Amino acid sequence: MGSEGRGDGERVGGNGGGGRDRLKAGPACQGGPDADQAAMIGAEPGDGVEELEDLAGVGSATAEKLRRAGISTVRDLAAFSARELEGLSELSDGKAEEVSRRAREAVFPKVLSAREYMERRRTMPRLTTGSKNLDRLLCGGLEPGITELIGAYGTGKTQICLQACLTVQLTPNRGGLDGAAFYIDTEDTFKPERLEEIARGIGLEDDRALDRVFGFRAINSDHQFEGLRLAQDYVRERGVKVLIVDSLTAHFRNEYQGRENLVSRQQRLNAFIHQLQRLTTLHDTIVLVTNQILDVPEVIPGVKPMKPAGGNVVAHGSTFRLWLERSKGRTRVNVIDSPKHPKWSTYVALSERGVVDVEEE
Ligand SMILES: Nc1ncnc2c1ncn2[C@@H]1O[C@H](COP(=O)(O)OP(=O)(O)OP(=O)(O)O)[C@@H](O)[C@H]1O
Ligand SMILES: [Mg+2]
Repeated sequence: MGSEGRGDGERVGGNGGGGRDRLKAGPACQGGPDADQAAMIGAEPGDGVEELEDLAGVGSATAEKLRRAGISTVRDLAAFSARELEGLSELSDGKAEEVSRRAREAVFPKVLSAREYMERRRTMPRLTTGSKNLDRLLCGGLEPGITELIGAYGTGKTQICLQACLTVQLTPNRGGLDGAAFYIDTEDTFKPERLEEIARGIGLEDDRALDRVFGFRAINSDHQFEGLRLAQDYVRERGVKVLIVDSLTAHFRNEYQGRENLVSRQQRLNAFIHQLQRLTTLHDTIVLVTNQILDVPEVIPGVKPMKPAGGNVVAHGSTFRLWLERSKGRTRVNVIDSPKHPKWSTYVALSERGVVDVEEE
């Protein structure tokens, strides 16, 4: 347990020093749409991802080599560095460099002004969690990037993930993305019966709701990578807009125990998170991962410090970090790290209907 990376945990306490009135007023979100606006915003229409052969320098022979390496669109190609392509495919060094550069140029604009960047962010997909409190905390809902749910047993991490698999299917005017979900389950907590119950709770009346949630039971960390590879296909071909990894860290922690394995574990975990980042950057997929907390030795007697598993690799890899705590029968959700959300807290309750709002104190 004590073999985590150093000092990236943060014990959450209080509500950022703001007191009850501040908590009631809600976070001071900047730039992004607020929760009410978010319901009006849906996924951006696809930008017409080109065929490999459309790219200058890619003839049928090169396209065939790329497909054999599992790369089937210009967007996929843009994700790989020349060095990775050389390792993956049968392309010569020069060809790999040329096609990866051309794909990047075709997919990503070179430089954006801050205003253009802001405009792009405004039109990014937003997904309601199904709880207004939580959406407000997230300045309008879940968005592309990796959102990490950190918390002890029973705090509601899995419930929030299951609910996102259903809210994603709602129409944009109800805060959804009219999309499907992919769930990488490492702990056997993916329960269709519970999905049915939550679907009723959020008013998703669609007989096909369970057909649009794809589950993958990962039995070890290699299998978890395999699940992610499959998820990428489902994002491209089956309209998956939200990807869940529940839990992100458990297999890595179990398989690589002890200080002597810490470096290899963190490298492997880093590779996994890197692939998640690519997916969300390329396809605007909303990625939701769960993570456990660890007890660390007391420094101040009587104060029990805690920190998220996975060390700096997870801390730096996640875009938005939420810390969940059980308190008087409810769950308090705290933003502990985000490039855009103010540090804030809110309360939700876990009920038969799913994750629901409770009055903030
Ligand atoms: N059908 C239901 N009706 C009411 N509450 C439920 C129902 N199913 C789950 N819950 C609530 O959700 C809690 C479990 O939450 P969840 O499974 O999300 O925890 P977790 O944070 O994922 O925990 P772990 O770290 O063990 O995976 C239960 O203790 C209960 O309060
Ligand atoms: Mg769980």
